[in-house]
Amino acid sequence: MGLPVEWLVNHVGGSVVQAVDVEEDRAMMLEAISAAATVRSQTAPNPWVGCVIVPSGDEPAALGATQPPGGLHAEAMALDLAGPTAAGAVAYVTLEPCCHHGRTPPCADALIAAGVRRVVIGVVDPDPQVRGQGIAHLRAAGIEVSVGVCAEEISEQLAPYLKQRSTGRPWVVLKLAASLDGRTAAPDGTSQWITGPLARADAHRLRAESDAVLVGAGTVRADDPALTVRDSEGRDPLRVVLGHIPDGARVQPALELGGDLGQVLDELGQRDVVQLLVEGGATVAHDFHRAGLVDRYVLYLAPVLFGGDDGRAVFAGSGAASMADVWRGRMVSVEQLGPDVRIELAPTGAGGAQTPGSSLTTGSARSGLAAA
Ligand SMILES: NC(=O)c1ccc[n+]([C@@H]2O[C@H](COP(=O)([O-])OP(=O)(O)OC[C@H]3O[C@@H](n4cnc5c(N)ncnc54)[C@H](OP(=O)(O)O)[C@@H]3O)[C@@H](O)[C@H]2O)c1
Repeated sequence: MGLPVEWLVNHVGGSVVQAVDVEEDRAMMLEAISAAATVRSQTAPNPWVGCVIVPSGDEPAALGATQPPGGLHAEAMALDLAGPTAAGAVAYVTLEPCCHHGRTPPCADALIAAGVRRVVIGVVDPDPQVRGQGIAHLRAAGIEVSVGVCAEEISEQLAPYLKQRSTGRPWVVLKLAASLDGRTAAPDGTSQWITGPLARADAHRLRAESDAVLVGAGTVRADDPALTVRDSEGRDPLRVVLGHIPDGARVQPALELGGDLGQVLDELGQRDVVQLLVEGGATVAHDFHRAGLVDRYVLYLAPVLFGGDDGRAVFAGSGAASMADVWRGRMVSVEQLGPDVRIELAPTGAGGAQTPGSSLTTGSARSGLAAA
């Protein structure tokens, strides 16, 4: 579960702040959000941030977006482009500027040195090294600061980062490909391919924007997947297998983990995994879902019918005992990809993960393995 939007707007050293020119501010912030979207899969473990510098005269606005780790942050990139026109300008930035020395110098200092007169911020950075200090630093330098413009949109765009920095655990996306009658594999264990090439390319894009991809040992034994990014641009994620990896498996090199799923997430969060893509199979999908550890479900549904109940279902294990216990979600998006449909589902309520039913606690362990 991430932080509520109100916290991300108002947690600025105890004071609540307001935007002044809402329409203009929103228009410019939407530009910054679009810039951030272009670098979504390139910046982790850093956040994907956008920045627009709007000079006071007729000079053109300058756009920046976070570069891969070690490269320029969004503010520095936009300031470089703006040059001297940044003096007296308004800077729009989706996330609070940093104020500490990391791999790059603090962005708050760069904005102060450039002489901007006002900084408009989408959301507060929950990273303990920032948390309102960037805002305080700008204000102490006499710069007018407004916080909370397009906060809903930015909280959605940056949800994985905001969750990882505030809870220490990665944002969990559970991906499933199923027939319209809810089957993910045939009785003989084969499941390649239920969906078509467009859905599979989209799943590779999801892999590219994730820092780690996880499957159970059952899927490694059945499918011997490589879990690399092939049908999309981007780097290969860290590969994680729950249980034992057989010798010679194509997934190698991979991290072998097991036991309590909450502890698995803690371990991955410590390894700077901001987004984890869980790719199955049915046992692992069931365990993450029933433990309430999933922040987003991405279902690819193919116009295929297995026509019986002997194929593998989406989830293996016991589910809701009665209608009062069924998990209900919210459709985030529905999209047709060639012959298939892609549905993105979110748990209801603020932020992410929600536990189905009432008798389960977060975290679950396969029997016989170390548990908390
Ligand atoms: N359509 C799809 O989207 C999709 C995606 C992936 C897979 N599949 C299909 O799903 C089938 C495999 O599903 P499955 O349910 O048999 O396997 P699975 O969920 O991939 O793996 C389950 C196994 O992983 C290990 N495991 C799970 N949680 C663990 C934990 N917390 N700690 C340690 N080990 C853990 C256990 O291995 P041990 O048994 O070694 O103890 C467990 O039996 C295959 O037919 C595959 O083709 C379909």
